Amino acid sequence: MTGDKKGFPEGFLWGGALAASQCEGATLEDGKKWTTGDAMPYGVFSDVIIPPPDDYLKKEAIDFYHRYKEDIRLFAEMGFKTLRISLSWARIFPDGDEEQPNEKGLKFYDDLIDELEKYGIEPLITLVHFEIPLHLAEAYGGWANRKMIDFYEKFVRTVYTRYKDKVRYWITFNEINVVLDAPFNGAGINAKPGEVDKQVLYQAIHHQFVASALAIKIGHEINPDFKIGCMVANSPYYPLTPNPDDVWEAVRKDRETLFFADVQARGAYPGYMKRFFKENGISLEIAEGDLELMKANTVDYISFSYYMSYCASADPDVLKEVGNVKSGIKNPYLKASSWGWQIDPKGLRYAMNMFYDRYQLPLFIVENGLGAKDELIPDGEGGFTVADDYRIAYFKAHLQQAYEAIQDGVELLGYTSWGPIDIVSNTFSEMEKRYGFIYVDKHNDGSGSLGRYRKKSFYWYKDVIATNGASLFQG
Ligand code: BG6
Repeated sequence: MTGDKKGFPEGFLWGGALAASQCEGATLEDGKKWTTGDAMPYGVFSDVIIPPPDDYLKKEAIDFYHRYKEDIRLFAEMGFKTLRISLSWARIFPDGDEEQPNEKGLKFYDDLIDELEKYGIEPLITLVHFEIPLHLAEAYGGWANRKMIDFYEKFVRTVYTRYKDKVRYWITFNEINVVLDAPFNGAGINAKPGEVDKQVLYQAIHHQFVASALAIKIGHEINPDFKIGCMVANSPYYPLTPNPDDVWEAVRKDRETLFFADVQARGAYPGYMKRFFKENGISLEIAEGDLELMKANTVDYISFSYYMSYCASADPDVLKEVGNVKSGIKNPYLKASSWGWQIDPKGLRYAMNMFYDRYQLPLFIVENGLGAKDELIPDGEGGFTVADDYRIAYFKAHLQQAYEAIQDGVELLGYTSWGPIDIVSNTFSEMEKRYGFIYVDKHNDGSGSLGRYRKKSFYWYKDVIATNGASLFQG
């Protein structure tokens, strides 16, 4: 699938991506209970899990739960072909271990999916995006417990069956590799990053692999046309110097991500991980049939987020000073965002080629974007806007590199920018860090009218979609 000169492939899925706990709000409405995502960031280092303070932003977030129609209308105005959403597990199974689903929670997603259909926007659903019902974390210890596979299966069967004729694209777990640095976020394990017992952590990861393979099996049984993918946070590492030790360190760091894609795309634990387990005294409890299930049910496509790249050095004295939950070494050739995320458009082409060379599976860029501070200003016509040329420059450079990767032979299904409307950020639960084409009047202190305003990038992205990417190469 190669794009026409200066255009993206026909049928390319342009759109945006959201996560339930960061946009919906209504955290305790219509039967929903708390999730680990709602508890972020309070749950991470746990003393205070729930209830969070009154000015807690996610309680209302951007009120997508009540305003989704208005927001979808704006996405449709931009010409979205797809919208990536996640399902809040606790809207559907509030505690996670009940027998029957909560009809009111399902009704919300019925209506949301119907609203997308009205505009011809194809849903792309993440089954688990950094949240499980809080009860499953508190009572069972999250994914460290094998029982989670059964709870997940029940949840997944319920939504697959309900939406089998309305949804084609699914993702089993958001950024499954982030669990290494954020065990609460990724697996509901209430431990500080770095302090989690490795045996517990890798056992939880094994349970997620089994659950993901099971979800692929069940999905293909329910509807053979389902396309079910894995999703990894992809920040490639470059060696800081040509010193072979640095080169090897970059390979080692990349494998912390590739391990997750290797298992889900190839269906087996790679040799380098078997060695790692052995050398670290990790002995996984693998139930009968697990490995066969994983081997027989690999992903249909690889999806990933891409925000930045890092450098790697074997020298322990080199300062790790950039990044987020992960940390890496500064690249002297790159600039960083206000949050220290290094901006590296060519790294996207590099990563896409690396994945495609390795797996020969279609790719889907399901998160990319610039978190920035925006200023709402008069638009000269009695309304308000944001002059976010910096965001346009970021997107333009990244999309041009995605185009180059397609010319390199990479099969790319689509591109969903992160947070096409401003939402609560994941890492620090703040509103100040905005990714959207649409500004939401809501602030870190909880104030704001929740009004929506089109930024300059709104019109720019609309044009990109309308021309199927050709406008990226004009002017
Ligand atoms: C990804 C997550 O890690 O990055 C999203 O899948 C998250 O949930 C996004 O919001 C950006 O991170 P942040 O911390 O800037 O919101």
